[in-house]
Amino acid sequence: MGRDVIIACDFPGKREVLDFLNKLGRRRPYLKIGMELFYAEGPQIVQELKARGHSVFLDLKLCDIPNTVRKTMSVLRDLGADMVNLHAFGTIDMMKAALEGLTRPDGTRPLLIAVTQLTSTSEERMKRELLIDLPLPEVVMHYAKNAQQAGLDGVVCSPLEAGGVHNTCGASFLTITPGVRFSDGDVGDQVRVTTPEKAKLLGSDYIVVGRPITAANDPAAAYERCMSEFVD
Ligand code: C5P
Repeated sequence: MGRDVIIACDFPGKREVLDFLNKLGRRRPYLKIGMELFYAEGPQIVQELKARGHSVFLDLKLCDIPNTVRKTMSVLRDLGADMVNLHAFGTIDMMKAALEGLTRPDGTRPLLIAVTQLTSTSEERMKRELLIDLPLPEVVMHYAKNAQQAGLDGVVCSPLEAGGVHNTCGASFLTITPGVRFSDGDVGDQVRVTTPEKAKLLGSDYIVVGRPITAANDPAAAYERCMSEFVD
């Protein structure tokens, strides 16, 4: 499986997404649909973007009891998404149930990816609020191992953790990495950022890029720059 750039479509509604996609001309990039857009527009937004020729990562970060997650995943599998995710925090049993729900009768299924620790969670907060008294990288690697044990395909993590995840879980276990900025671009609210080129060197399989493309003066040029730094 090759590297790819996934554009985070953090827009409030379909009209804004289509306005943005029109600026990309005939290009059909991999898109990430998050909670904001999904809850605003409903499941048909996934089907519509698929029908326009895009691959779709449905970023809904499920976390509930195994039975509920199994049944929800079986609804999501029929929307046609190529990749979906959940919280590794929900336990190995929940991740196994998710995989069962996601698998179609013919054995095919979308990729299933686990969120380890959100990048908004600091080590200090993890200790104080969640009572997890271990170094954050250790927690991330442990959750990645749990995800792999449950049969998942990979994790969302920082590009800075991608090498560690591959060392722990193997080269084919996928790393999906947000927190990407151009060397001459705005960092915004992201803290630990890397360029697309650096993410490639660090071993990321997919980079998730939002504002550096969606808020660029020329989104098509920004997307092409990401592709040429990360993929080519
Ligand atoms: O605009 P920007 O490039 O910062 O967008 C990054 C995207 O990746 C957003 O949709 C954000 O919610 C998502 N994300 C993240 N950090 C995580 C998990 C997801 O930035 N740990």
